[in-house]
Amino acid sequence: MDIAVIGSNMVDLVTYTARMPQLGETLAGQDFQMGCGGKGANQAIAASRLGSQVLMLTRVGEDLFAQNTVRNFEENGIDTRHVLSTSGPSGVAPIFVDEQGRNSIVIVKGANDLLTPADIDAARDEISRCRLIVLQLEVPLETVYHAIQTGQELGIPVLLNPAPATPELDYARIATVDWFMPNESELALLTGLPTTTLDEVEAAARSLVGKGMRNVVVTLGERGVLWLSAEEKHLVEPVSVQAVDTTGAGDAFIGCFSHALVSGKEVLEALRLANAYAADSVTRRGTQTSYATVEDFRSAGPAH
Ligand code: RIB
Ligand code: NA
Repeated sequence: MDIAVIGSNMVDLVTYTARMPQLGETLAGQDFQMGCGGKGANQAIAASRLGSQVLMLTRVGEDLFAQNTVRNFEENGIDTRHVLSTSGPSGVAPIFVDEQGRNSIVIVKGANDLLTPADIDAARDEISRCRLIVLQLEVPLETVYHAIQTGQELGIPVLLNPAPATPELDYARIATVDWFMPNESELALLTGLPTTTLDEVEAAARSLVGKGMRNVVVTLGERGVLWLSAEEKHLVEPVSVQAVDTTGAGDAFIGCFSHALVSGKEVLEALRLANAYAADSVTRRGTQTSYATVEDFRSAGPAH
């Protein structure tokens, strides 16, 4: 087993519209697509499509969405022994995507809110055989903290993607993660510092490194990626593409980076690959539906 993803799954209900609706307005959209999403599941699927063996810890509800989600994990070769089910609804994410490929998302966590620290303990044996633990913030914070602690006890590196950001995140309980990977707005919310200019982003990231965080990787969309640690500082150049739908691009990045890391790639190489993989995903609609397989990604060009 290579990677344990401990996190969410959602059903994405994506509406394509020329522009976002105003409050109280009814707008005719162009198109609609339903697909499997959720940050945890997206990251797991990306890593798995690229060839990693992925163990998924998540909770689905008891509904048609749940069956679809489990089947999707299986079809993508994910270990589903710890995809647990809960009475009640599965997580759903109504999403609007405008003509520029920008999105607005409302998540309704449903069963994801019931993933507990005990669920992690029940999977401890399987987790102990993984080489990386990957976390996001669409499940209860206590569960995230427990996963970090478990990783530390087992000596397994932990990657935390603090998305969606919440001011309730307790820095003291995440300080030991090996990889902290926010985007610029998440970084601003978590540090209370501005992240408009690149200098500001660097200062905010440095404030975390100053407090002992090992590696801070900030995804900056069209401005690339900043990697900062006590010894390293690198800005990885962006890959420019025509954006059709940016939903899930951050997850594509994390999934590819995780895969590259456990495959033994150098960090900078892993970041470049992840950048290219995420950029490729924004050229297609949907979240997981836009993630390339390893074959497609390889044939996409020499940069990959
Ligand atoms: O990061 C994109 C994801 O956020 C979507 O798939 C949606 O489900 C929300 O979790
Ligand atoms: Na996409």
